[in-house]
Amino acid sequence: MPLAQIRVPVSIDKFTHPPAYFTDLGAAFCGDSLELLNQLPDESINLVLTSPPFALQREKEYGNKDATEYVEWLAEFARLVYQKLKPDGSFVLDLGGAYEKGKPVRSLYNFRVPIYLCDEIGFFLAEDFYWFNPSKLPSPIEWVNKRKIRAKDSVNTVWWFSKSEFPKADVSKVLTPYSSRMKQLLKDPDKFYDPKKRPSGHDIGRAFAKDNGGSIPSNLLQIANSESNGQYLRGCKSLGIKAHPARFPSKLPEFFIRFLTDPGDLVVDIFSGSNTTGFVAEAEGRNWLAFEKDIQYIAASSFRFMDENIDEDRLSLFYEKVMSGESVEIIANATQLSFLETAATY
Ligand SMILES: C[S@@+](CC[C@H](N)C(=O)[O-])C[C@H]1O[C@@H](n2cnc3c(N)ncnc32)[C@H](O)[C@@H]1O
Repeated sequence: MPLAQIRVPVSIDKFTHPPAYFTDLGAAFCGDSLELLNQLPDESINLVLTSPPFALQREKEYGNKDATEYVEWLAEFARLVYQKLKPDGSFVLDLGGAYEKGKPVRSLYNFRVPIYLCDEIGFFLAEDFYWFNPSKLPSPIEWVNKRKIRAKDSVNTVWWFSKSEFPKADVSKVLTPYSSRMKQLLKDPDKFYDPKKRPSGHDIGRAFAKDNGGSIPSNLLQIANSESNGQYLRGCKSLGIKAHPARFPSKLPEFFIRFLTDPGDLVVDIFSGSNTTGFVAEAEGRNWLAFEKDIQYIAASSFRFMDENIDEDRLSLFYEKVMSGESVEIIANATQLSFLETAATY
């Protein structure tokens, strides 16, 4: 199948090589995201949502840059993201905190990132979010468990940058369920409310008893990173492949994709790892592109899109095709796969 006939409604024929795999709504490419981003038209992306390799003191499998070089390294990607985002587009960056090497002192790198991106590149910090992961393990062991001189670190900073002061956003698409007290109030407002002025001087009136379908979420997102990743982990396990070590939970991209984009918009993850972002974007009816430099991570990420009844032989065939550089089409919720005639080169 020639590239131009691929059904994905994003300009993937603009890329110098075919995707590693593609679905109804998106495509995963193997390569350096600086090069891949460059191949996209300017002002074509609605949302770039990503979690880069962190500047942690302990080297992770996927490689880390020293914290001091980190901001400049990341800024190179951010400059291109700025160029490729639509004027009302957003850039959401999940950054874990870190300690300085050998000292119980925090690195400031994740706070330097928004200052640099806003001062030097021209982004606005639309809002600072904090992802609280109650299931995070205590770390670093030396300061938290052994010497007991620091508390457990369980919050990531998630910076929401925008190109304009009014990026596309609709918080009513990400309402959280009402508390039980609020539900009772909505049932019988008279019993609960005696409209009066609060100490702050704000008048609490009947408007508060209106059912809006849920509460406005706060910028503290509580999401346990303990989901099972069903099909992805099952696939890795059955082929004996190690799962990606730094996946974020799907609720994180889900929140920002619903909040900041509409169906049909283009969502891009430039450090896609196991492609959690692409998988959620597909489920939410958004177009997506995933860029990842490690072909093994990409090949395994394709399991996310496969039918749960797919047998091990087909799964293995599929994995090997992607690993060997063939471009593979995944037909939504089907055990069938098809392959592009042109082999991709990496
Ligand atoms: C923190 S992980 C992302 C995990 C992802 N959010 C998930 O849920 O699976 C960062 C990824 O960035 C990839 N990476 C690092 N530098 C890259 C580059 N220049 N271009 C493309 N991918 C890169 C790494 O291989 C790693 O898989």
